[in-house]
Amino acid sequence: MPKQNLFIAIEGTDGSGKSTQAKLLAERLTRDGHNVHTTFEPTDRSIGKLLRRILKGELVVDQKAIAGLFLADRLDHLLNEETGLVKKLADGYSVICDRYYFSSYAYHSVYMDMDWVIDCNSMCADILRPDLNVFIDVPVEVCIARIQSNRASAELYETGEILNKVRNNYLAAFDRLKGVEQIAVIDGNRSMNEVAEEVWSTVGKLVQ
Ligand code: ADP
Ligand code: TYD
Repeated sequence: MPKQNLFIAIEGTDGSGKSTQAKLLAERLTRDGHNVHTTFEPTDRSIGKLLRRILKGELVVDQKAIAGLFLADRLDHLLNEETGLVKKLADGYSVICDRYYFSSYAYHSVYMDMDWVIDCNSMCADILRPDLNVFIDVPVEVCIARIQSNRASAELYETGEILNKVRNNYLAAFDRLKGVEQIAVIDGNRSMNEVAEEVWSTVGKLVQ
């Protein structure tokens, strides 16, 4: 019998270890017999590339317009006919997505009302709601230290002050949507393998 395919979103503040965990989870699911498609937002398509320039500070754009661009990038990520998430899932892949709409709820609500951000993403939730949103929870000062040891310059949201607000917004959004979304909060302030084991013990339950 073919494996049940999953849509898993990995969330966290910048530097929390999301990409590392997305990769380790993909390897684990592959070993378990899944065909896995790993992907990320902002995407590497045209709208995502524009967002990367904004995040680097090459272009200055209002925060409301940035939120709109992330929504446009997400709809393109979902619906494009080459690598779109809807197509990948229909083709039988399990999809692991490094950031999805909870990132928008957490980051853009630093600058505007969370209701607006949730409402304007409702079409994405109607198209594809993750089987699980995995939040890798790491103290912001640890994230900042990891970012600094990794990169020469910080991006738009990479200050302690902003990331603390972002973390609080994630927790507020989880609380608000706990009736409709599947959410796992995982302590990410441990070794990569310990975190990966807990991610797997949570995701593994979905495929037993
Ligand atoms: P993100 O995608 O959330 O920005 P990354 O997975 O790129 O995070 O990790 C950021 C940095 O922290 C990288 O240098 C990575 O090797 C390191 N890292 C990831 N997970 C851990 C961990 N559990 N403990 C220590 N360092 C980690
Ligand atoms: P990412 O490349 O995942 O950064 P990192 O690896 O440092 O965590 O994401 C880039 C930035 O985009 C990050 O600061 C979070 C931000 N972002 C939003 O503000 N809104 C969104 O909807 C998404 C998906 C990301």
